[in-house]
Amino acid sequence: MASPNTEPRDPKAASPDPHLGRLLDFTEAMVFAQHQVRALITQGPGQMPTYTKNGHWVLEDDPWAPTWSGGFLTGLMWILARHTQDPWWRQQAERYSELLEPRKSDTSTHDIGFVLEPSWGRWYDLDPTPRARDVLIEGGRTMAGRLQTPGGYLSTWVDPGSTFIDVMMNVGIIFRAAAYSNDSALHDVAVTHCRTSRRYLMRGDGSTLHEGWFDTETGEFLRSATHQGWRADSTWSRGQAWAIYGFTTAYQYTGDTDMLDAARRAADFYISHTSGHGVPPNDWSDPAPALPWEASAAAIAAAAMLRLSIATGLDDYQAYGLRILTTLSSTEFIAADTPGWQGIIRHATYHQRNGLGIDESVMWGDYYFLEALDLAQQLTAKAGQQA
Ligand code: GLY
Repeated sequence: MASPNTEPRDPKAASPDPHLGRLLDFTEAMVFAQHQVRALITQGPGQMPTYTKNGHWVLEDDPWAPTWSGGFLTGLMWILARHTQDPWWRQQAERYSELLEPRKSDTSTHDIGFVLEPSWGRWYDLDPTPRARDVLIEGGRTMAGRLQTPGGYLSTWVDPGSTFIDVMMNVGIIFRAAAYSNDSALHDVAVTHCRTSRRYLMRGDGSTLHEGWFDTETGEFLRSATHQGWRADSTWSRGQAWAIYGFTTAYQYTGDTDMLDAARRAADFYISHTSGHGVPPNDWSDPAPALPWEASAAAIAAAAMLRLSIATGLDDYQAYGLRILTTLSSTEFIAADTPGWQGIIRHATYHQRNGLGIDESVMWGDYYFLEALDLAQQLTAKAGQQA
């Protein structure tokens, strides 16, 4: 039986070196991604799958969580629209974003940012129309409606007493809505949640817990828990990657150095616990992980570290983000040499305990991989201009 706070003796040994195979350069990886997304939306127009089974997208709704992942496929299309300048991609991206518009007033889930940032957020960033702005403002206000007082956190769909580290990915839309509507009370809601998350969901060593439970009457923090990690006191790698990304976003909107410190500590924990190739197991604390890699955590971490480096000018995070990207661009991970595989990145896991998407492709893994590729290309282009 494992003792409390068990860490594997060498956490890096839990994610052994993969046999990388053929390495695609970033342009080839982008072309492959384009091919995969085009095939999916041509074969199943309007469908927004979450994960694959034996490499094939499962087209029914995600049975586990209120649907949270539609934004990622749409976001892939927006990245491709901007990258290729092909009007077909723009048309698809707009069509799928419109399918998601009603989610701006969905009070059943904490995942409004996951749904609307990659879709309407990217639309607005490309073309800042009043319509897109209004969708984002309404989405941000809906998300802010989840604030629990006196605890000072945005609650999950599980229970008013619960919050997740993933919710840090859903504060960006509140910050955005606050900025577009000049609403400082809305801004404060996002800040409050970030501060509570930093205080209760991040440990002293920079690791994070998945779920925090609070007494809704008093606001007292009660305990930690997990759904997709190993156990309550462990560190789920995808949650850690969400933390790097989420606290970086909070820093970008606030300039608050506490948020920067949280982002850096989350990133440093990730780096120090992961082998040089950059792909962690599902949970670093699990002494006997069933699988060596959770590639979607790596894809999120790559995008997050590139963003952190852009926000701060710190080159180390850029170098590590690029290293992860290179690993994921090898055919052990990118499915370019796996005939019939419909996703982009293999060896991701959605929900081991519930038997969903284990060692498969997941839509957010593909999305953040492409986001990281896109950021890497922008960084390369910028460096070229400065040279
Ligand atoms: N629901 C967020 C995640 O699975 O990471």
